[in-house]
Amino acid sequence: MMVDPQVSAAELVSLVNAALEDRQDPEAAARAYRAMAELSALAHADPHSQSGAAPEHHGAEQPSAAFSAYHRLLWRLHVHPERLHDPLRAWLASAGYDAEEATIPLAAVDPALDQDGFIALICAEHEARSGLRHPMSAHLFEGDPPEFAELAIYLRHHWHRSRLFYRELADFSLGRELAAASVIFRNLYDEGGGEQTPKAHPFLLQKLLLHLGIPCGFADEPELPQALAYLSNRIRCSRRANPAWGLAVLFSLEYGTPTTHGNIHRLLRHFEVPEEICEFHRLHMSADVEHARELVDLIREQVLRAEDRAIFIASLRHHRALGRRYFDAIWREIQATREP
Ligand SMILES: [Fe+2]
Repeated sequence: MMVDPQVSAAELVSLVNAALEDRQDPEAAARAYRAMAELSALAHADPHSQSGAAPEHHGAEQPSAAFSAYHRLLWRLHVHPERLHDPLRAWLASAGYDAEEATIPLAAVDPALDQDGFIALICAEHEARSGLRHPMSAHLFEGDPPEFAELAIYLRHHWHRSRLFYRELADFSLGRELAAASVIFRNLYDEGGGEQTPKAHPFLLQKLLLHLGIPCGFADEPELPQALAYLSNRIRCSRRANPAWGLAVLFSLEYGTPTTHGNIHRLLRHFEVPEEICEFHRLHMSADVEHARELVDLIREQVLRAEDRAIFIASLRHHRALGRRYFDAIWREIQATREP
């Protein structure tokens, strides 16, 4: 019998929602757990939804109904504010993680690499997959300046990518021993504005977006399934027991930041945005250099075994593949504004 994936995905979502509504029913919870695993497997069975099997660039490819349904459901499990029932949500999410991780190929890393060699490898892996290599980045940051409306679309998505980063740092730190957590706490302290709450980085970005008239609520839900998949992967990696998952994502986020923020800062000044409104981008042109350096030290200490290095590289590639798909989708959104 042919299964309609759309109906099937909707039924699986409703099984999860039923367990969340009646938290007294262990059988409903068990059904929901199996439904999350099945929905995740369905979502990632599409070869274009996997980093390993996917081609480098996906053009106009659109995600499947199961992919969209899974990632919207997973996002809601992640951001729900109720802490008392969080274990149920985290447990259900973990069923989805396991099925997704089964589709991520572990990387083969040369066992002869010493620590310096491994650090050189991760920098090269990141550079090869940097968002700066995407055609959207070339359009926005190279040659003639873009239209303001195009930059506004990019910045709207920047809000989705930035505003909850502090929670990923917090999640990641909770699973670490104190020496490693202390390094993450310093990053979190900076992200939270140090001694000045209004200087918390998301507040600084919000100040810019309000000035530009771009929506920027903390409870906003990204519309693009590619955004949800990219962001939920960051959360998954921050929660995994093996720190290689999260360190790879944090390294990629911090290591790539200064150049991108310099590019955006230059464009904002081109559009005559006052310097004091550009503080978010100005400070990230330098602050994340130190964060990336501290993360490299942590990676040297914590990503030593062959198994951990294989996870690290797999996580870095998967994160960047999802970032690429997300950029593809934003790029289509920008291009749509230019079509007659
Ligand atoms: Fe920041």
